[in-house]
Amino acid sequence: MFGGHVVAMRSPETIPRSGVRTVVAGIVLTALSACTYDDVSRVGRPDVSRSGLNFGYAVSSSWLANTDYAEIVRRDATIVTPENAMKWDHIHPEPDVYDFSGADEIVAQARANGQTVRGHTLVWHQQLPSWLEDGDWSRDDLIDVLRDHITTVIGHYRDRFPGVVTQWDVVNEAFTSQGLRRDSLWQRVIGDDYIELAFRFAREADPAALLFYNDYYDDSMLGAPGRGGDGPTADGRCDVVPKCVATRNLADRFVRAGVPIDGIGFEGHVFDGRPVDYQAFSSWTLELGLQWALTEVDGPLAASDGSDPAALEAQAAMYESMVDDCLTSPNCDTVVVWGVTDSQSWVTQHTHGALGHAVLYTADFEPKPAAERVLSAIHRAHSTAGALDLGARTRSPTPRDG
Ligand code: G3I
Repeated sequence: MFGGHVVAMRSPETIPRSGVRTVVAGIVLTALSACTYDDVSRVGRPDVSRSGLNFGYAVSSSWLANTDYAEIVRRDATIVTPENAMKWDHIHPEPDVYDFSGADEIVAQARANGQTVRGHTLVWHQQLPSWLEDGDWSRDDLIDVLRDHITTVIGHYRDRFPGVVTQWDVVNEAFTSQGLRRDSLWQRVIGDDYIELAFRFAREADPAALLFYNDYYDDSMLGAPGRGGDGPTADGRCDVVPKCVATRNLADRFVRAGVPIDGIGFEGHVFDGRPVDYQAFSSWTLELGLQWALTEVDGPLAASDGSDPAALEAQAAMYESMVDDCLTSPNCDTVVVWGVTDSQSWVTQHTHGALGHAVLYTADFEPKPAAERVLSAIHRAHSTAGALDLGARTRSPTPRDG
């Protein structure tokens, strides 16, 4: 509970804290490369009503036209995220033009598959159209633009696809690795309260949707420990990671002030291969009555390591540990992997080919060891699912603050 409203979550005492850390410490129990397409097919889509976990992928509408890709998404996922189609440059390309075509294709396919959708993302510093980025805005005018965008985009999905878009990344990546506010159009023109305004506009637009603040804390390219950065420590301490402290302080203030926020998204781009104790790293969210989610998980390998059994096994262990962190956490019910196949994952392009092989399926749509381990972890949770509070998957529609 917070702010007088119910945040549905699993009760901590019903969930066994498994020996996840022992597994990720290096005990390799699964035969390397034993995973076949048939194995994964048999594992099939997780029964979310029993495991209590939403699992899925970031997807693009152009790739959904590929039948192999679409079949993986249909079979494995209970939730999907548009990787780019809901970002400003795609969905609001001109001041008075909203283009929902790409995002609608994704949401319609999700609905047809019986899946839900994480909306991504309403406020970010990247992928802004030039009319917005280059505009000469007053604070009041930009607040009006922000309100119109959030109201229109959320309202479109609330009305056209009722009950499908259940979560929104309202604000993305607002802090630097030093824990300061990131320089962005929103910060420069509106100032510190743009985040609070965005959450309030979002709650007004859809009182039933879960509202997340989403950021990365572990990306070695962007500053992980050991590479001059400040990602999560192995023991999962938030208090030594300035960005985590800034996020926690923001959330704490929001909860106390009744600003509507339901959860924190930890992106989970693990670029140094090191499994992170996300359960510990996110523990403060439970104290604040918030949910947490793993929203953009991937684990790149060196470009040459795509067929190296040891590298693939380490990757599988990393994925498994992250899924287990969520599964065994009382206030986490969503894990999204950032892409479906290695050929369309953002990593190769954005590291200029230095890294790759970041997601669960090869470019040929073959499941990697990580695919089998992730889906098996979800299915293993079925054995304990009877003890879970199944109301945990969705937010209470109780009227909220705003
Ligand atoms: O839409 C244009 C297209 O018109 C043009 O022809 C093409 C030429 O390269 O570029 C297309 O834009 C690309 C866009 O994705 C849409 O496909 C950009 O080049 C490309 O840089 C952009 O990358 C996306 C990136 O966000 C933008 O920074 C990635 O696909 C996407 O995976 C990535 O996702 C972000 C999350 O949203 C937030 N967290 C970090 C994560 C990884 O960077």
